[in-house]
Amino acid sequence: MTSLPSPHTQLEVHGSTYRFYLGDCLDVLAALEPGTLDAVVTSPPYNLGIRYRSYDDTLPRDEYLQWTGRWIAAVTRTLRPEGSLFLNVGAKPKDPWTALDVAQAARPYLKLQNTLHWIKSIAIEKDLAGARAGLDDDLAVGHYKPINSRRFLHDCHEFVFHFTPEGSTPLDRQAVGVKYQDQSNVARWRGAASGVRCRGNTWFIPYETIQSREKDRPHPATFPTRLPEMCLRLHGRERISLVADPFTGLGSTAVACVDLGVSFIGMEMDEGYLQVAVERTREAIDRRRSRLPLEADSTTKPGGTKPGVRPRRSTRGV
Ligand SMILES: C[S@@+](CC[C@H](N)C(=O)[O-])C[C@H]1O[C@@H](n2cnc3c(N)ncnc32)[C@H](O)[C@@H]1O
Repeated sequence: MTSLPSPHTQLEVHGSTYRFYLGDCLDVLAALEPGTLDAVVTSPPYNLGIRYRSYDDTLPRDEYLQWTGRWIAAVTRTLRPEGSLFLNVGAKPKDPWTALDVAQAARPYLKLQNTLHWIKSIAIEKDLAGARAGLDDDLAVGHYKPINSRRFLHDCHEFVFHFTPEGSTPLDRQAVGVKYQDQSNVARWRGAASGVRCRGNTWFIPYETIQSREKDRPHPATFPTRLPEMCLRLHGRERISLVADPFTGLGSTAVACVDLGVSFIGMEMDEGYLQVAVERTREAIDRRRSRLPLEADSTTKPGGTKPGVRPRRSTRGV
């Protein structure tokens, strides 16, 4: 294990730290202490020819899967025994096996505990929703990648594979639960006392609506912040001190960590994306500060320094 290099940027708020490393995640993961991460929520490049700023997303399949095995092995080393790796991956119609091949690459290292479907868009007919839903008309919500084809369907979902070291990581299912439709059942079943039931493994999470792709989401393959946030809540907010995302992109996992008040380590090889990730995290910290002003005032670090955003830049990357 080599020593951890200086982060490109480090932010702090309310006793949590947000460290961003510019460089290859394999180098940073190798420098982390074993068994220190509670959860990793990430989305690697899918090798589908997506046009990133720096990364070449067109590796030969064997090379890509070998590399996938390497970074998953590196993540495994850094996870706690009851940690979670939430691995988001999609596919494209002409390359339908990608997501499943990536999941198979994890098989030598981790147990597949849950398979979630991130639903980006869904259509629900009024009569199937039932009278209680009160729909005036059929419903179609969310955004999807349109596919112009006679043989393929629009692509409205991606996988989130939940891998764990032993397959027995306890989860906080109620933290992402859904309200019982019929509240009279709540009194009948002891397990339903909180009024929510397990959401199950289909999660409808639309992309945030944006005005300008270039300005508001300058990256070709992001996930909405709500996705990592729900993964982390499911893992159990109380059992999380440190989260990592080896493929940080625009920093959606970092923003979720700020909102949940847990520390974060992010790695990204492209400086342009990393800068946006830092900026989004800074904004999330400002929002959190304005929501919790008392907490901000009452947490003072040993030595008398007030906690706050403390940008620190090293002169080089990893
Ligand atoms: C699918 S995107 C992640 C997007 C992110 N989840 C978000 O919501 O913004 C994958 C990212 O991995 C980065 N990347 C590719 N290879 C990398 C490596 N070896 N180390 C660190 N980052 C890498 C790419 O530049 C790209 O931004």
